[in-house]
Amino acid sequence: MTSVYVFNGPNLNLLGTRKPEVYGTTTLSDVEAMCREEAEALGLELVFGQSNHEGQLIDWIQEAGAAVKAGQAIGAVLNPGAYTHTSVALHDAIEGVELPLIELHISNVHRREPFRHHSYVSPVASGIVVGFGVYGYVLAIRGLHNAARPV
Ligand code: DQA
Repeated sequence: MTSVYVFNGPNLNLLGTRKPEVYGTTTLSDVEAMCREEAEALGLELVFGQSNHEGQLIDWIQEAGAAVKAGQAIGAVLNPGAYTHTSVALHDAIEGVELPLIELHISNVHRREPFRHHSYVSPVASGIVVGFGVYGYVLAIRGLHNAARPV
């Protein structure tokens, strides 16, 4: 079965209790369930992960890139959390394995603090979903699936 990856970076394990006025009250396990339902409806297997560690995210990106090259996966949705704004290493990993990737942010980072306006991930992303709350995960999976369909 073809897989779709959904990766979450630092502090997203706190979803539901961290700044609910910004990120809402849905928990990460609720998000996983939403993603699983969407993936299954599209005939995909969901691989879902969260890590507070940059190196772990990089290892997962490299594994996802290899799986796409092997024809076993369509790509990844990544909410890089604060690493969005700091991580050249994430940028290089995505570019290095040519991973089809949708960058996702629950909040609209562009109407927040200026330090959230720059992303190291955006230049190597296939698409970006920003500001739709946790529903963005569903949109990102659909977008990735649509982009992966043979013409
Ligand atoms: C976030 C936005 C980032 O700026 C922040 O550091 C996060 C979450 C979002 O989903 O809106 O941790 O990626």
